[in-house]
Amino acid sequence: MLDDLKAVAPSRLTGHMVLDMPAAPLPRGLVGTFGYSEQEIEKEALRLQYAIKQPMRWSIEVCRSLAPMTLEINRLKREKDVFLIAHSYQTPDITYGVADSVADSYALSKEARDAPQQTILFSSVRFMAETAKIVSPHKTVLHPSPDAGCSLSDGISANDVISLKKANPGVPVVCYINTSAAVKAECDVCVTSSNYLSICEKLEGDRLIFVPDRFMGSHLQKELSGKKDVLVFDGECEVHAEFTGKKIRKWKENMSENGIDLVVLSHPECDAEVLKESDFVGSSEVLKNEAIRLAAKGKKDLMLITECGTADRVLAETNDHLNLIGSCVMCRHMKRTQLEDILQALRDPTQEQIIDLDEDIIRRASKSLDEMFRLAE
Ligand code: 13P
Ligand code: SF4
Repeated sequence: MLDDLKAVAPSRLTGHMVLDMPAAPLPRGLVGTFGYSEQEIEKEALRLQYAIKQPMRWSIEVCRSLAPMTLEINRLKREKDVFLIAHSYQTPDITYGVADSVADSYALSKEARDAPQQTILFSSVRFMAETAKIVSPHKTVLHPSPDAGCSLSDGISANDVISLKKANPGVPVVCYINTSAAVKAECDVCVTSSNYLSICEKLEGDRLIFVPDRFMGSHLQKELSGKKDVLVFDGECEVHAEFTGKKIRKWKENMSENGIDLVVLSHPECDAEVLKESDFVGSSEVLKNEAIRLAAKGKKDLMLITECGTADRVLAETNDHLNLIGSCVMCRHMKRTQLEDILQALRDPTQEQIIDLDEDIIRRASKSLDEMFRLAE
């Protein structure tokens, strides 16, 4: 995918150059106006288009077709006092149209815990909504797309962790947040892409088990070499596994031949070869902030090695000119949620859309999340 240089699309609003992004999602069926006037819909469409700042992909016609839904979702949120959280990988009509907070998995789990509202709607994949329920069990947590999984989270079961513990008694088990509540319940501490290194460094002893991401695990093995043995599970993120060091090297060479000094920013779910080729490694939020910081300093030729939502966020949150080189990869699980699902879950959630976890699982899983908050703060 990264091998093909695609045509450059200049944006009318910002002057950004963006390569190869997926098309904006259209409503699944006829939406109707929900009683909003033409004037209200036009104003909302302009608000959306201005916030998203990609007027080619998110044309005024597309924004107009989505505007009645964002208006209605925002009205229902106020009426029902719902806090709507969206992960960075959700589409911009969600992140900039209806979300009260958008960030990476660490920040969002804290926001879910601390929000005063008693109902949280988590627009994202299942494990993130489950995490919100674990950290705030007394709240109602709505998850609009119950089938939205994650290759990391779905690739490991609680029994896998129990077997690892049996084979390695006494060795602390660290789980990436991309795991089910049942897996978290079997682990000693949870980590995210923004704190896995610092937390693992702080753990006592000279061995640890890391589940389920083999790429993040091998990054840990390298960083902790000589200090700790890291036993790694064999899972991977199907999105970040798409990127290879070879492809990035080729891009850097091509760009350099054209006098372009490419800065590569990667997510730690990528493999070691990719991270070796990268100038900066961080969580979705940290990558977004770094790209914006670089653009402000005039470093405009950037390559974001991660899911497409991060590029959407960078484009929306800077007015500085930048060229995003290469192509992102879309997470089919993250993109499962559309405005229609959010609207439906707000109006009349089905049983599957209300996160319901066993009390004992919540109690045990919350220990690994509490330990993360303690060690990260
Ligand atoms: P972040 O915590 O960096 O947002 O990562 C979550 C995730 O699923 C990345 O693929
Ligand atoms: Fe899971 Fe990868 Fe999608 Fe993140 S991007 S939700 S890790 S499959």
